Amino acid sequence: MDSFTGKLAVVTGGGSGMGRELVRQLAAQGCSVAACDLNADAVAQTAALAREGAPPGVRISGHACDVAEEAQVLRFRGELLEQHASDHVDLVFSNAGIGGGGSFVNDRREDWERTFAVDWWGVYYCARAFLPLLIASGDGVLVNTSSVNGFWATLGPGTRASTGSCARSRKTPTTTLCWPAWRHRTRAARRASGPVAGRRRLAANPGAEAGGRLIP
Ligand SMILES: NC(=O)c1ccc[n+]([C@@H]2O[C@H](COP(=O)([O-])OP(=O)(O)OC[C@H]3O[C@@H](n4cnc5c(N)ncnc54)[C@H](O)[C@@H]3O)[C@@H](O)[C@H]2O)c1
Repeated sequence: MDSFTGKLAVVTGGGSGMGRELVRQLAAQGCSVAACDLNADAVAQTAALAREGAPPGVRISGHACDVAEEAQVLRFRGELLEQHASDHVDLVFSNAGIGGGGSFVNDRREDWERTFAVDWWGVYYCARAFLPLLIASGDGVLVNTSSVNGFWATLGPGTRASTGSCARSRKTPTTTLCWPAWRHRTRAARRASGPVAGRRRLAANPGAEAGGRLIP
């Protein structure tokens, strides 16, 4: 994909942080975007911000959706196809995610399970829902935001192996999708995100960069 102009992108977790910035930058480059978030007000704000900086003809929609609930993901898919009058999407950024869990032994089971519900099942449901539409694009790209927590059981002294280390690695859904998707000219990538001020950290630990490359 050489340009975002005229494409349609889906961004989950578009209500704040990196998701909001993704929506804003895609829109500014001429890409229509359907963004969803658990927080309906926040994603509506993102949509308004993105519209301000978008060239004419770009359509931005904001949707309430909990990606941990498959029925809500399917509703979001239906809404966006109708609102964007489209039968395909070109890009899907599965960005929604949470931190949580902690010690498997000492911390609450509910926190572990919610973290898995959002960080693993949320990515899985979105891949299930959107892969056919990416294939229909003919040049679709799926980007699952991961975490450096997925590469190490612990990020250093004082931190523990946590739910995020397992759920946010997202290796299984991404790598499992790569080869079947590739045959349909659709790529799957796992984007490993570090702490926001993480560039220097990556420089000090170049091995971590491997996780940020497009697969294959
Ligand atoms: N910021 C970092 O340092 C960092 C590090 C590692 C991984 N990540 C990952 O990058 C992604 C974005 O991070 P961020 O810092 O911008 O986070 P953020 O908390 O600023 O934004 C995440 C957004 O996702 C939304 N969200 C949460 N659960 C949701 C759900 N079930 N359904 C729909 N939306 C939901 C939140 O409401 C929020 O708007 C996340 O997946 C996060 O785990 C971030």
